[in-house]
Amino acid sequence: QIVNLADYRPTNFVLERVDLTFDLHPTETKVEARLIFHRREGIDPKAPLVLDGDELALSGLLLDQTELPAAQYDATPESLTVRDLPESTPFELTITTVINPEANTQLMGLYRTGGIYCTQCEAEGFRRITYFPDRPDVLAPYTVNIIADKAANPLLLSNGNFLGGAGYGEGKHFAAWFDPHPKPSYLFALVAGDLGVVEDTFTTLSGREVALKIYVEHGKEPRAVYAMDALKRSMKWDEERFGREYDLDIFMIVAVSDFNMGAMENKGLNVFNDKYVLADPETATDADYANIEAIIAHEYFHNWTGNRITCRDWFQLCLKEGLTVYRDHEFSADQRSRPVKRIAEVRHLKSEQFPEDSGPLAHPVRPTKYREINNFYTTTVYEKGSEVTRMIATLLGRDLFKQGMDLYFDRHDGQAVTIEDFVRCFEDVSGRDLSQFSLWYHQAGTPLVTASGAYDADAKTFTLSLEQMVPATPGQTAKKPMHIPLRMGLLAEDGAVITPASASGAELVDDVLHLTKQTQTATFHGISQRPVLSLNRSFSTPINLQFSQSAGDLALIARYETDHFARWQALIDLGLPNLLQAARDARQGVEITCDPAFTNALLAAAADDSLEPAFRAQVLTLPSESDIARELGGNNDPDAIHAARQTIIKRIAVAGQGVFTALYDGMQTPGRFTPDAASAGRRALRNAALSYLSQSDETPARAKAAYDAANNMTDLSAALTILAQQFPDTAETAAALAHFRDRFADNALVIDKWLAIQAAIPGAGALERIRLLMETPLFKHTNPNRVRALIGTFAFANPTGFGRADGAGYNFLADEILEIDQRNPQLAARILTSMRSWRLLEPVRADHARSALMRIERAGGLSTDVRDIVDRILKE
Ligand code: ARG
Ligand code: ZN
Repeated sequence: QIVNLADYRPTNFVLERVDLTFDLHPTETKVEARLIFHRREGIDPKAPLVLDGDELALSGLLLDQTELPAAQYDATPESLTVRDLPESTPFELTITTVINPEANTQLMGLYRTGGIYCTQCEAEGFRRITYFPDRPDVLAPYTVNIIADKAANPLLLSNGNFLGGAGYGEGKHFAAWFDPHPKPSYLFALVAGDLGVVEDTFTTLSGREVALKIYVEHGKEPRAVYAMDALKRSMKWDEERFGREYDLDIFMIVAVSDFNMGAMENKGLNVFNDKYVLADPETATDADYANIEAIIAHEYFHNWTGNRITCRDWFQLCLKEGLTVYRDHEFSADQRSRPVKRIAEVRHLKSEQFPEDSGPLAHPVRPTKYREINNFYTTTVYEKGSEVTRMIATLLGRDLFKQGMDLYFDRHDGQAVTIEDFVRCFEDVSGRDLSQFSLWYHQAGTPLVTASGAYDADAKTFTLSLEQMVPATPGQTAKKPMHIPLRMGLLAEDGAVITPASASGAELVDDVLHLTKQTQTATFHGISQRPVLSLNRSFSTPINLQFSQSAGDLALIARYETDHFARWQALIDLGLPNLLQAARDARQGVEITCDPAFTNALLAAAADDSLEPAFRAQVLTLPSESDIARELGGNNDPDAIHAARQTIIKRIAVAGQGVFTALYDGMQTPGRFTPDAASAGRRALRNAALSYLSQSDETPARAKAAYDAANNMTDLSAALTILAQQFPDTAETAAALAHFRDRFADNALVIDKWLAIQAAIPGAGALERIRLLMETPLFKHTNPNRVRALIGTFAFANPTGFGRADGAGYNFLADEILEIDQRNPQLAARILTSMRSWRLLEPVRADHARSALMRIERAGGLSTDVRDIVDRILKE
């Protein structure tokens, strides 16, 4: 059934306190929940109390310590209804349930992973532990008592501060925790088991000392040192940039091997997918280090944006996620290179969120209905949600944005609030009416802005005509014009900045031009020479921009823009038409051409030593095959796109041999490995050069030598990727793959790289390779990371292999989805979203994709998760 935002009502009963006791056992854990409630004022004295459950069985129920007669309640696996409760006095319900963590393969609620007990409660996992008002607007302080076998579980952890512990007879012990900060059930966590620890402390701005602990499997402690460093930097940054201090005596992170998502911000006790904690030079790439830094920060930042101030209901998910992603983006930008970080964000947004926003799964950043909330942890809520927050900062400017955030923290601390509450803080500090701007939360679809410019030398004016169009999306046909803040710059022929004397027709504040009407013409006065317009600098607004600029103008921007993001964008805009035309030509069997203006500009940037290496590496990374498919917009043939892109890459490789040789020799990082951004940038540029050099070599020798010489995982996996992608069927590649497997067979996270590299090898043979890899004991169907590495990479990142013309890839995926769904619906549903763009395929493949999807749709016993996705993907 569908949940509607319009149906939101506060609960009938107010929860005052929660007291939980867990008697842990692998298959029979006893949970006793003592809940103190009172009836909310003005609520019908006859109204019953209805609590949520999921696959629960009630084994005891007391009201104020007295057993309740059966006539006074109804218990089903999904709910507990209690009648005839006191009209006005508080009462205590004691609910006992017995659950089986070992059998919990959904990884929601209390489950077991690698011999330890762990929980995941967001969004609706707590109801798999006990009957509860399992919704984010029910906040209470929690006491948690944990009893467990002492030898197997020396560690007993929960939220808040440690109260104490002691022996408990028969080889058991117990520990008690108290979290004074009222919180919703989705932030509850419990971890028990035997783990190693890395410890440190952090002294907050006001001088309080906080104990920091990161728990990992024994023996992996050295690999948690970088995460600890990232945590301390995050804590400091949040104090400096947002004035946010930590608020408990202890902050803990636990790394687990079986986890559906990246990590979870439970109060004082974050639980992480170990992929985002463990790192050392031998096993982690520079990208892994950057992800760890970002995700540690993200979860830590949730302590204020999510935990202290939480969501009234799940429609408000972007209130905490969009804002927290924005905060972690800003953190990484400050820790590393801001323009390079922005390029990576925009790449990610365009390749993941834009397809979502233009396909059958499109939904507003703040949706108004859902069938399965797990399916709304999307790039739209997270990444577009972050972009909307960024636009508020752009609209208001740094100072007012800061004031608005301060007001938000001040006004709403301890509350469960809405997007409207958030936006009102910025309206109140700025006096600006943000109602039109708020359409960004409510209207799905990526706006298309069409721009054209005209220079009038006599009048010394430059006129910019803008038109916006927001495409129709499921459930939303008619759209209103949005408030679109476009950063812009005007450049002279020699690259100098042109500052207009004034602007009319549209508001211009600093470099931000405000487009608010469907069509609008802005005129810039006092322009004494033809300007080159750089539009949507730093991607100030997440739109598709249609603006034809000559290759000369783009090359000028690529060379002179002060905004380096805009330089990168100009090079993409120079290259993209070539890639698109090449794809059309490959489809027609026509010879592929490539404009030398593009190759020259690209190579000039790559060779420009005044630019950061990381930026140059980004320049050398062409749009992906999926990016090209999205830009083509329909009737797509993955083989033609692949052939086209490869041809262009080869042209660049041949034209740039000298540049690439110099980079490969010059960009070494001698000495001990350090994961800092500057060294990572040099490695990225050097490996990009190696990839192009291998293209022109046409032999695997150079990449194999690089593989043999590598002394860190970044270089090792880069060389292995080149071998696998470019020379899949050679002895060199086979040898490197076997060597890599044998060397890292005992490190599952590195084996994920080995699986993913092979899953991405293009061509119709990919499926057979996948099937063989599934047979190796290194692959485990029950582990989400393994499944995502092999099956996820195949479906999301191998368009020619997955999309082979006979439909075998789609059929394979359907079988896998049906099987995974039996165990882990969230994982199955997530991987199924790889089919969201099937309607853009040429008719033969589209037919195969549709039949595979229909086979899923007709299967019996689907989870709500998969049912929701498959229905939406297939809907006309
Ligand atoms: N709140 C977590 C984060 O973004 C993600 C949890 C997602 N859980 C889920 N069941 N979908 O930091
Ligand atoms: Zn989050």
